[in-house]
Amino acid sequence: MTREYNVAILGATGAVGRRMIEQLEQSSIPVKELKLLASSRSAGTKLPFRGKEYIVEETKPESFDGVDLVLSSAGGSVSKKFLPEAVKRGAVCVDNTSAFRMDPDVPLVVPEVNGEQLKNHHGIIANPNCSTIQMVMALEPVRRKFGLKQIIVSTYQASSGAGQSALNELNQEAQDYLDGKNMQEDAKILPTKGDKKHYPLAFNLLPQIDVFEEDGYSHEEWKMIHETKKIMLNDMDAPEIKVTATCVRVPVPISHGESVYFTVADETATAEDIRKVMADFPGVVVQDDPENQVYPQPIDAVGKRETFVGRIRPDQENKGAFNAWIVADNLLKGAAWNAVENAEYLVKEDLI
Ligand code: A2P
Repeated sequence: MTREYNVAILGATGAVGRRMIEQLEQSSIPVKELKLLASSRSAGTKLPFRGKEYIVEETKPESFDGVDLVLSSAGGSVSKKFLPEAVKRGAVCVDNTSAFRMDPDVPLVVPEVNGEQLKNHHGIIANPNCSTIQMVMALEPVRRKFGLKQIIVSTYQASSGAGQSALNELNQEAQDYLDGKNMQEDAKILPTKGDKKHYPLAFNLLPQIDVFEEDGYSHEEWKMIHETKKIMLNDMDAPEIKVTATCVRVPVPISHGESVYFTVADETATAEDIRKVMADFPGVVVQDDPENQVYPQPIDAVGKRETFVGRIRPDQENKGAFNAWIVADNLLKGAAWNAVENAEYLVKEDLI
């Protein structure tokens, strides 16, 4: 008989949590019982799963009694508080927050890139940052075939990456702007809840995602640098691939774009070679036909599980260097789908 799993979704009412429910519904995971967990604010809310209504419960340590698998996306402090409780009770957790990503005991996994790391878990698996996931999806096949020396990335990140409330904030600002009202008062969350000042995103660009580190990089930029090294080389400080990043929030609701410049060790590689290895990699779709104006766009990526790459072209003055443009749904491959895909792998390999 196939084993069935009791699954809990922590943060079930959030932008990612709701998509975790939807991705779980479409997955191959045999679900016995489902628990939808959030804060007391949304306890009692009803959400559908496989044709049945489920009532959201307030999260308590006991909520995890009898749970086999937890998918969580309720913020880092909530994960730190509850996931060790869930592990103590025998659950395996796939956590979408940054709470445990750099813990040496916690695998940081994009299944297509380093799925084998799941075998080393001790109860918690971290889902990488959304902008890191789509970048490593596009560049891992290049690394495997031609060797990667350096990555320079600039991101164009959607507002939903900061949660449902940031998405609502952008919509309100856009409405107020079009109505001729002052949108400054709408800005309560972005660029980041954790900082003192807030600025409107509608009709604007914010070169700050998360708080700033002492070296002048934002924490999001720090994450892209160190998560990329941990995923590709299994060492968050690995010097073999140099990575630097500039992260920018743009007034797009869903799907991040990234302009990436990278250099490869094998300087005989051509743009056509790069296109081919990317197109052959599972989960990557190459949309690259400038003559016919074909390139990835955020509105086309919404609701899709794949990572889209286009505008692949060589640097005309440096050998072995290329530019590319990468787009993916930050709530799906960047979060909910990657988490459920990790869970599917755990189920398939009997790691729960
Ligand atoms: P709630 O709806 O009760 O606030 P988003 O990333 O879209 O902002 O969503 C965050 C998710 O995390 C929501 O489901 C939210 O639930 C949940 N959450 C926030 N704080 C807590 C908490 N202290 N305990 C459990 N869930 C929480």
